[in-house]
Amino acid sequence: MKNVIILGSTGSIGTQTLEVIEKLDNYQVKALTCGKNIELIKKQIEKFSPQIVCTQEPKDAENLSKIYPKTKFLSGENGLLEIINNQYDVLVVATSGIVSVKTVLKAIENKKTIALANKETLVMAGDIVMKKAKQYNTPIIPIDSEHSAILQCLKEFDNPNAKRLWITASGGPFLNNTRKEMAVFTAKEALNHPRWNMGKKITVDCATLVNKGLEVIEAHHLYNFDYENIKVVIHPESLVHSFVEFNDGSFLAQMGTPSMHIPIQYALTYPDRKTGIKTNSFSPYGKQLNFYEPDFERFPLLKITIECAKQGGIMPAVLNAANEVAVYKFLEGKINFLDIEKIILKEIETAKNISNPSIDEIFETDKKVRLKLSEI
Ligand SMILES: NC(=O)c1ccc[n+]([C@@H]2O[C@H](COP(=O)([O-])OP(=O)(O)OC[C@H]3O[C@@H](n4cnc5c(N)ncnc54)[C@H](OP(=O)(O)O)[C@@H]3O)[C@@H](O)[C@H]2O)c1
Repeated sequence: MKNVIILGSTGSIGTQTLEVIEKLDNYQVKALTCGKNIELIKKQIEKFSPQIVCTQEPKDAENLSKIYPKTKFLSGENGLLEIINNQYDVLVVATSGIVSVKTVLKAIENKKTIALANKETLVMAGDIVMKKAKQYNTPIIPIDSEHSAILQCLKEFDNPNAKRLWITASGGPFLNNTRKEMAVFTAKEALNHPRWNMGKKITVDCATLVNKGLEVIEAHHLYNFDYENIKVVIHPESLVHSFVEFNDGSFLAQMGTPSMHIPIQYALTYPDRKTGIKTNSFSPYGKQLNFYEPDFERFPLLKITIECAKQGGIMPAVLNAANEVAVYKFLEGKINFLDIEKIILKEIETAKNISNPSIDEIFETDKKVRLKLSEI
């Protein structure tokens, strides 16, 4: 029996991970963590009987411990760090934001599989995380559909015959809109993703194409490819989840219905492929597949994100923090869609880079940017 800990079990990836585990033989839930969705974590406790649960707020942990006396409750970031001291086989990191970055760094020392959905971990601290994972020989298996597709095509993390990675992007809800139209779109329109059903933050990142830039950074760290050899290709149908181009001119692609269940299950069972959750079958008959070059004029944040990544140091952390603050301000209706890019640009233009930053310097940068932008 494989024991699974899920950080962020009440989110979009977290709930789908539980759906996958329910249908897989020999997998059971060891521990769950949530932020503030207490009603949902209660349902999950009743259904999956985890031994340990961690909530964001200590008050929630205290209240829940009275209802579920057999479960051990923890809280806050220390609770996340404590949870990984328990025996487990797979740690699923499905929290949003930066709350679990230090937990992932610590978990690497356990040498158990880390199934990583959280983008911020590699975006902010990819060099540090991957160096440590190599040192401890800890597998970091991506949950993101694009990186899962790349892994399925590469078959191994270091495939010497692979030449370039081609990351597909649906193009998001504003793929065919002008900048003038984008300027007046509200959160409701940005959240109307044509293909994927995801958390709010990542859905807005799909509309700006920042998400694709963040995925380029993740691919760079996971597969050790230079940025010049990672391409983005717009593929509105979202049936090809990415390609690998090999030295002999062959391209391998992974295809499937746009469902996170497939990459989540693959990350849990890697390197095996198991039959578990049923997804809608995909028939190629009559399907048209389109592939375009991204329009960097209408979506400048894609280019800006990749440029920040190339600069390295603390710049990806600056971009990540500025983007997160701006996206939440947009979701709250305080700024318009194109202000997201103005806020990010201003922040990265004024930031002073630090090369080879420590994890503390990265967190300090994150804090500084958030504090500064909170005053907008
Ligand atoms: N959704 C997708 O399809 C998808 C695909 C690829 C990658 N990703 C990445 O995976 C990560 C999760 O995405 P998501 O869409 O699943 O996000 P989400 O739906 O917003 O869920 C986030 C989870 O993290 C928890 N959380 C947030 N802040 C927390 C804090 N301070 N302390 C403790 N828990 C906290 C939330 O708890 P509560 O809800 O209880 O507050 C929730 O369980 C992101 O980094 C995203 O970029 C997502």
